[in-house]
Amino acid sequence: MAENHGMVGDVYFPAPEIIEQAHIPNYEKVHAEAMADLPGFWGRIAAENFEWYQPWEKVLDDHNAPFYKWFVGAKVNIIHNALDRHMRTSVRNKAALIFEGEPGDMRTYTYQQLNYEVCKFASVLRSLGVAKGDRVTIYMGRIPELMIAMLACAKIGAMHSVVYGGFSTEALLDRINDSQSEVLVTCDGAWLRGNIVPLKEIANAAVERADSIHSVVCVKRTGEDVEMVPDRDHWYHDLMALPIADPHSATEVMDAEDPLFILYTSGTTGKPKAILHTHGGYMVGTATTLKWVFDMKPEDVWWCAADPGWITGHSYIVYSPLILGATSFMYEGAPTHPNPDRWWSMIAQYGITILYTAPTAIRGLMRFGENWPNLHDLSSLRLLGSVGEPINPAAWSWYYRVIGKERCPIMDTWWQTETGNFMITPLPSVPLKPGSGTRGFPGVDIDVVDEEGEPVGVNEEGYLVIKRPWPAMLRTIFGDPDRYVRQYWSRYEEQGWYLPGDSAKKDEDGYIWIIGRIDDVIKVSGYRLGTAEVESALVSHAAVAEAAVIGIPDQLRGNIIKAFCILRDGFEPSDKLSAELRDHVGHEVGPIAKPTTVDFVDELPKTRSGKIMRRVLKAKVLGEELGDLSTLAN
Ligand code: PRX
Repeated sequence: MAENHGMVGDVYFPAPEIIEQAHIPNYEKVHAEAMADLPGFWGRIAAENFEWYQPWEKVLDDHNAPFYKWFVGAKVNIIHNALDRHMRTSVRNKAALIFEGEPGDMRTYTYQQLNYEVCKFASVLRSLGVAKGDRVTIYMGRIPELMIAMLACAKIGAMHSVVYGGFSTEALLDRINDSQSEVLVTCDGAWLRGNIVPLKEIANAAVERADSIHSVVCVKRTGEDVEMVPDRDHWYHDLMALPIADPHSATEVMDAEDPLFILYTSGTTGKPKAILHTHGGYMVGTATTLKWVFDMKPEDVWWCAADPGWITGHSYIVYSPLILGATSFMYEGAPTHPNPDRWWSMIAQYGITILYTAPTAIRGLMRFGENWPNLHDLSSLRLLGSVGEPINPAAWSWYYRVIGKERCPIMDTWWQTETGNFMITPLPSVPLKPGSGTRGFPGVDIDVVDEEGEPVGVNEEGYLVIKRPWPAMLRTIFGDPDRYVRQYWSRYEEQGWYLPGDSAKKDEDGYIWIIGRIDDVIKVSGYRLGTAEVESALVSHAAVAEAAVIGIPDQLRGNIIKAFCILRDGFEPSDKLSAELRDHVGHEVGPIAKPTTVDFVDELPKTRSGKIMRRVLKAKVLGEELGDLSTLAN
């Protein structure tokens, strides 16, 4: 390797051919341009790369901040750009989606085939009474029909609310109730590690208690026997075979600011909140970030290994690759099934060129050693990506050396459900420092500040803030606009800055290093969970009077959950009860939320006003200084 590229000390310099071949703009130049004229920058991009039924009157309307509006007055539908317009070009014959199921079955959809399915399912939804502005909950495994259902909702102007297939009955029920969805799309089950996750059974238990749902559509995936409720439940394939499933159904003309979807995510307090995204800005933001950060070329095979049930999947499996006319790969099951080389064998088989995944997945596969990836030809890869949590040095170097063979730069992208698209991210042409997402995407005005909003010194910890709006930003919390203002815009109200809830540092080159959450959100294996969700699941058990949970750093999963419970009179601590409580949380929220340990205690550290001081619990567990205890009551 030449002296001037690859790892030089602690910095990775991209090879000259990566920079030359990248059809992406020069970072410094385009970032400066964008900062000088933000609406001009996004207006140009929106006009040059997307089709609009009717142009906008104004790119950015900030008179009612923080309720920003983008591309005001424009008419559009994200589906027009993701599917309809491709029917006029050779893209229609290109693979939009290559799918492999965990049992080994394969399916490929060209753009035309995908559009055919989406049109048909869109008219099925219309015939079930779904109209513009209505909500549809989707609760499925990682299969093409999940994507088809989402796209069909968007096409008719209904908002999808996808609930991750790893959530359980109560979590699904809460989300259905909050969104007041009238239709649920699910499947009979999902393959995972050779077993079937009984999604229909879980869905049935939720729908029984969900008054808003009048129809359930069920995709046959596993062929397991499932209970279908007469009049309420319909098989997907039956509906799709009816004449009502019109392959030419029309795409609804939407305002750029009309809602596209809601997606629930955990916050500091209380129940998960429904983050709302819109057709116009989200379309422009997600497609532009994917195009530049992963330098997407027509010959690429893009694999975003996330689940469509999370924002990563919404933005970078479902919408932006289609807008760019790219070819995506989707895999249904577990990375280690039947062996720990499943991912690597598929990269070789399908000629994947870009892999985008989470540090927790890398760490999980690293455990099995280099021999597994070395069994396969990974030379098709040209770029790698990371998302969801800070990537630790060991995982970075394994990913870089063993998977990327020291050829592929790693795009470490920081963003959130709320931001809609990558915010802190390199472009393939910029030098990388392992563990840092480098700087803001062009036009993203990001900084690290102290309590007062003053920029902190070099390498000092502070709050991450975003100082100006961006097109793919969340517009509100569905049904709770006050919470939207409180949660994200109140800390720096005077300055009008967005508070993501992360702490970070900025180094001498302006590179940003994310440290972690400043609130009660815990990232477990990249999944975002609120302490409040797990605690309320614990106290819903008859034995538990009070509960507190904290996140503790873990080598494999980033963090694990540790729970502390005060028992009700008449219950005794035991290993059996501890196991029962863990299972109870699994049942209430989902397996991802299960605490690793449950400790029984007589009291919990609280402030005089009765708030649990999780910080004190955490410091005790980690053997750290307890810090300021002046507000502690006990
Ligand atoms: O703490 C940050 C962390 O994940 C949070 C957002 O979680 P979620 O909304 O589930 O979206 C995850 C996928 C976009 C952030 O507040 N996070 C996300 N990406 C990174 C990260 N932390 C460090 N480095 C990242 N690349």
